[in-house]
Amino acid sequence: MKTKDQKLAVRPRRLRFSAGLRKMVRETELNAADLIYPLFICHGENIRAEIRSMPGIYQFSVDQLKAEVEEIAQLGIPAVILFGIPAAKDAEGSENFAPDGIIQQAIRAIKAAVPDLIVITDVCMCEYTDHGHCGIINTDRHSNLPEGYVLNDRTLDVIAKVAVSHAQAGADIVAPSGMIDGMVGAIRAALDGASFEHTPILSYSVKYASAFYGPFRDAAESPPQFGDRKTHQMDPSNVREALRETALDVAEGADMLMVKPALPYLDVLYRVRQAHPELPLVAYNVSGEYSMVKAAAANGWLDEPKVVLEALTGIKRAGADLIITYHAKEAARWLSTQ
Ligand code: PBG
Repeated sequence: MKTKDQKLAVRPRRLRFSAGLRKMVRETELNAADLIYPLFICHGENIRAEIRSMPGIYQFSVDQLKAEVEEIAQLGIPAVILFGIPAAKDAEGSENFAPDGIIQQAIRAIKAAVPDLIVITDVCMCEYTDHGHCGIINTDRHSNLPEGYVLNDRTLDVIAKVAVSHAQAGADIVAPSGMIDGMVGAIRAALDGASFEHTPILSYSVKYASAFYGPFRDAAESPPQFGDRKTHQMDPSNVREALRETALDVAEGADMLMVKPALPYLDVLYRVRQAHPELPLVAYNVSGEYSMVKAAAANGWLDEPKVVLEALTGIKRAGADLIITYHAKEAARWLSTQ
């Protein structure tokens, strides 16, 4: 007697029968070459300070960078993205565009150590300002704008200067992250005016006002001293607005687009991928996403390598070409032994 099963002509399980078959029909492949590793750089010497809320992630002083970037390149990771912790903070975040600022020093040290490693710089003001906001804030009680409001066009002048300063120090790509209207256009014009027409802009085009940035603000010492970032970062409820933001960035000359965070926003990533198939798309697997996995793994609740590779593969499957992730070094190691 035939069982019901034997009458099935179509059996998807056939292609899952062996490891070899599964590998042959795999649709998404994660590689170390897809990953970008964030680095936090601080003043001082001989510093390698672990961040309390991000186990395995450190603030490095410039003298520690050579060994670190050699290891990153050796693992097959093509790029790093830099965040600086300045010596002093002020209203304009002036160390951000100082020729000898922490990021400028770090760029030079990395390019000297491993010239082929791509150096991306985060262009924002929050780590550099005494108030912790991503721009120049309104202090005029008599203006039409609320006190503490991030002033759009005055901020553009500063971040354009920052981007040029990073390019002059040797950055390969600049990545404005403040969600300030017109940031891509202003930076493009400033770079071109300073003969950096060859320097690409990776725009944090779709960046949500997310609670998942909590651990990063420990790492970069950048929490806002009052208020929040909701007047410039996006509302987590919106996705059509993401298409408006990316279309604007494309029109202003962005070379690469980003969606951030990653895992709670895979639908956004997918929609942006469909809307802009012509541009490289980056996803930022942010600090909170990292710390959740680390905390669960430390408790023995998750198999960390499997969970990390599954999550990163999911981000790629949703549409990302490249993923900025604190897991990059470990993931590259796990991928090479798979
Ligand atoms: C802004 C910036 C932030 C992150 C990257 N660039 C923080 C913020 O917007 O508050 C967060 C990244 C992360 O959480 O890993 N300079």
